[in-house]
Amino acid sequence: MDLRRVLWLIHLGMIIFVGWQGVMAMQAADLVTYLRDVSGRTASYLLLGTLLFAPLSRLWPRLRLYIKVRRYLGLWGFCMVLIHVIVWVSLEFAFDWSLMWQEVNDNLFIWLGLVALILLLPMAVTSNNKAVRRLGFRRWQGLHSVAYLIVPLSLGHYFMAQKVASGEPIVLLLVLLLLMFWRFKYAD
Ligand code: HEM
Repeated sequence: MDLRRVLWLIHLGMIIFVGWQGVMAMQAADLVTYLRDVSGRTASYLLLGTLLFAPLSRLWPRLRLYIKVRRYLGLWGFCMVLIHVIVWVSLEFAFDWSLMWQEVNDNLFIWLGLVALILLLPMAVTSNNKAVRRLGFRRWQGLHSVAYLIVPLSLGHYFMAQKVASGEPIVLLLVLLLLMFWRFKYAD
């Protein structure tokens, strides 16, 4: 399929998904928790998805034609993280910065999320062709390999945020482990 059509479908799919989750949130017993959790989980899947591109395109070289898909998965992942944090800051803590600071200090998992967010910022800002030209491909690639740190931090945050044991973050962490194994064994 034509790359432009694939990208268009991704954007449309994400816009429908966000709208749909907005409607579901209105009907949820706890709107804030629903929004915070669904945005956090979606971000985790999208960010992990960006790392799947390298091994999959080695298996199916034609996938390299769709490398731009990775950029937009990452950018949508970043948007989901922003929604996640905006919900936390505004709806959960009503901009009470001292209370937020206390919460951050009391919870290692929030630190992991914060570090992941900080590392995501330069990646999101440089996810465009202009930045690749300005930085040069090697430096740009070096900067973007930080994704291999961001995803473990995000999934560590997800795992530690669970109050009741859930299989979902464990499955994602296992996929990540396999990916890392592949990365160090086969990647050039
Ligand atoms: C890359 C960055 C991040 C990702 C991918 C992420 C993802 C997630 C996920 C998947 C969950 C669990 C949702 C569930 O249980 O269904 C979660 C929970 C949470 N996250 Fe994040 N998060 C990130 C950054 C942050 C940041 C920066 C903060 C706050 C400053 C934060 C605050 C929280 C809180 C308070 C919870 C809920 C914990 C609870 O259940 O009480 N997250 N996050």
